[in-house]
Amino acid sequence: MSAPSWPWAASVASAATYRTSYIPKTPGETKLNHNEAPEDLDGELKAEILSRLAQLPWHRYADPDGAGVRQALAAATGHPLAGVAVGHGANDLIARLMFALTPDTPVVLVEPDYYVHGRSAQLAGQRPLRVALRRAGATYALDVDGILAAAGRGPALLVLSNPNNPTGSLFAAAALDRLLAEFPGAIVLDEAYAEFAGHTRQADLATHSNLAILRTLSKAHALAGVRLGYLLGSAEVVAQLDKLQPPYPISVLQTVAAEVALSHGERARQRVAAVVAERQQLRTELRALGVDVLDSHGNFLLAAFGERRSAVLAALARAELAVRDVGDLPGAPGCLRVSIGAPAANARLLAAVKQALDG
Ligand SMILES: Cc1ncc(COP(=O)(O)O)c(C=O)c1O
Repeated sequence: MSAPSWPWAASVASAATYRTSYIPKTPGETKLNHNEAPEDLDGELKAEILSRLAQLPWHRYADPDGAGVRQALAAATGHPLAGVAVGHGANDLIARLMFALTPDTPVVLVEPDYYVHGRSAQLAGQRPLRVALRRAGATYALDVDGILAAAGRGPALLVLSNPNNPTGSLFAAAALDRLLAEFPGAIVLDEAYAEFAGHTRQADLATHSNLAILRTLSKAHALAGVRLGYLLGSAEVVAQLDKLQPPYPISVLQTVAAEVALSHGERARQRVAAVVAERQQLRTELRALGVDVLDSHGNFLLAAFGERRSAVLAALARAELAVRDVGDLPGAPGCLRVSIGAPAANARLLAAVKQALDG
């Protein structure tokens, strides 16, 4: 008999732990590396959340269905309540979705895209298949024929972020229309940045039961630390995902913070408008320095620095600015992804880039 051991799934044992550059390198570092909201949640909203939290019993389990959050999300989005799932960030919903599929399902992903989609597929024992995006001017486009060829006859799952992270591209309506008409399986559109694009494919949910849309309160609602993501889809998808929740999954903090944030939708809209204005300005200014910057519909920019990438990274580090180095990822050679910060941080970024390029 061999020595007793843990029966790990090969997909888990072979995976690396997810690590991001989370820990600041200096106490004064400004984070422009995780596409978070540049400013903390307004004090008034925080006070409202805390005062409502103080009145709730903490020794009792929270509502097992997260009913309050789901109702607030159904009201805010206009989507039927039975088609709203909630999770600990969109990441949790992505992971559960992958575990809900038949093992070894082909999961078609685009490249580059949000790393967590492929990672979750791999961990759950699915078969990730990657199809490269195509550069078209200042944006990236979907290779619809490539995606359909990768899926074969199905069944398969297609997952892509729109706007895409890290490129910021919003995919052409005609390409998505064709995928909705021809993809032989289910489609998940990760719309984590939809508010910054002012665009959603939510209307397609009414006619396509094979479509689901992921969203989050981490970005436009400035609640990344609270962890609340949601899925809009059919009642069937929600029922399957709900089975994979542990009991009492949504805490009282998540419930109250989400309800308060959603009841102040105008604050999110103001926040988004400020980020979009800064994004446009920063893009124009970087282009004026000769930097190849893509058009972006998210709260970040992707800029290609080629051989100057290390020099720019060093200058940014000296200016105590953390950005995401995606230069070694397939599809983003020599690129840095920069989250849009507060105006002062964006000005520091511009000065540091200028210094690196002049030097
Ligand atoms: C495309 C995309 N989806 C989801 C997430 C994570 O969302 P959450 O914080 O809700 O887990 C991110 C975060 O960067 C993202 O870029």
